[in-house]
Amino acid sequence: MNIVILAAGQGKRMKSALPKVLQTLAGKPLLQHVLATALSLQGKQTKTGPIVVVGHGAADVKEFLISTSQIDPAFCKVTTVLQAEQKGTGHALLQALSKLDVDEPTLVLYGDVPLTTKKTLSKLAKLADGVRGQDCALALLTQDLSNPTGYGRIVRDADGSVKEIVEEKDATSAQKSILEINTGIMVLPTSALKKWLKALRASNAQGEYYLTDVIAMAVKDGVPIRTTQADAEYETVGVNSRDQLASLERVHQRNIANQLMDAGVSLADPARIDVRGVLECGTDVFIDIGCVFEGCVTLASGTKIGPYCIIRNSVIGKGVTIQAFSHIDGAKVGSSSIIGPYARLRPGADLANDVHIGNFVEVKNSKIASNSKANHLAYVGDSIVGSRVNIGAGTITCNYDGVNKHQTIIEDDVFIGSDTQLVAPIRVGRGATLGAGTTLTKDAPPNQLTVSRARQISIQWQRPVKVEKPVSKTVVKKAVTKTAKAKK
Ligand code: UD1
Ligand code: MG
Repeated sequence: MNIVILAAGQGKRMKSALPKVLQTLAGKPLLQHVLATALSLQGKQTKTGPIVVVGHGAADVKEFLISTSQIDPAFCKVTTVLQAEQKGTGHALLQALSKLDVDEPTLVLYGDVPLTTKKTLSKLAKLADGVRGQDCALALLTQDLSNPTGYGRIVRDADGSVKEIVEEKDATSAQKSILEINTGIMVLPTSALKKWLKALRASNAQGEYYLTDVIAMAVKDGVPIRTTQADAEYETVGVNSRDQLASLERVHQRNIANQLMDAGVSLADPARIDVRGVLECGTDVFIDIGCVFEGCVTLASGTKIGPYCIIRNSVIGKGVTIQAFSHIDGAKVGSSSIIGPYARLRPGADLANDVHIGNFVEVKNSKIASNSKANHLAYVGDSIVGSRVNIGAGTITCNYDGVNKHQTIIEDDVFIGSDTQLVAPIRVGRGATLGAGTTLTKDAPPNQLTVSRARQISIQWQRPVKVEKPVSKTVVKKAVTKTAKAKK
């Protein structure tokens, strides 16, 4: 099947420098949603993959396609064609004509209708299937709307067969009262489509070449026209304004929340979770309110996520507790660990089992072995930390000399006193203790107490006494007048 995605329009109502199809829903451009579905659908290889008609912001759209294909090779199959001037949906499809395989039907999608499901599109494609040896029928995805304003209306004969599509701006008042609308998504017989597109005229209210005019041509040519509807209205909703984008985001997030709950995840409030990517959960996972998940996140069974956590591209082990307001990005957390509140795990944080990372502790590019703790106000960067290590409050690994990053190695069973700085590259030997306030600039030997601190002394001393300044006459005068006024 040929798939053409119309995406050349400007999206004036978004009032954005970004082309509309690059606005994001659940963290992904609208066009990426459409393409992902298109790619999943295009079973049989056609000469080209999905064809995207670009126009407004074409350079940005192409750049997005290149960068996405670097991450997901499936996107390499996507082809673009340029519609230099936006003269309507029919004109847009015309630009892709030379790329279409005439022996395959053509599915038309819109770049700004992101949530149509594979199931609905497969149903539509099947509906268009021709009888053996014959060209396919024309299948339209329509939708009954209580408020059809703005959409093209499906005009039917007395016997119910589709006669034409009339755009809102060209419709009579009787036609405007029709509630069945054109979603724009359709499957067409390609060889006939070629002929029809070339015959389109822009003699209508908008002076555009309407793709919808091919319907009446198909009727004239005796091509059967069949219609079907999606399971849910949101599948056919297009994004024209920021308000519509925000509403669709909520619908989409609610669907994801429902899927999570169906899979056995407990959500404190299904209306207050945002998944911008893929969230995989084991059994008995609990997620409190206001959490955001980005990229690929795995939460193993029994994980508890406190309120307002942000977790991106991370793997969280069994029975982990992540407390409120923690940020976790590119990290691995071993089972039964306790993180937060207010903890920050940055890329390369790799924690084994039963590790405790407490409030205002930042861990970056560091391996921490089991049963180690950094419970308060610390920075652990570019480090290898052994088992049963205790990192005291205010400890900093000084990993950066202003030019290069250096490693800190802390072996098993080390105790690091509060407010210690470890100037990397440095090693703290197994079982060592560092006294509070130490600035460690040389390796600390195992099993000894190392401390770098000025020796404590006590001196007989008298605190200075505050000298009272003489008050000036004008200040006294002002104060007196003010009090007198206040009394009045
Ligand atoms: C279109 C349909 C209308 C339908 C509605 C559904 C036509 C004439 N009308 O109207 O029947 O109810 O969609 O949302 O087809 N585009 C281009 N190049 C252009 C014009 C548009 O690529 O020159 C793309 C847009 O980027 C968009 C899609 O086509 O993705 C639809 O265009 P839009 O201008 O929104 O069409 P509507 O007037 O909404
Ligand atoms: Mg539109």
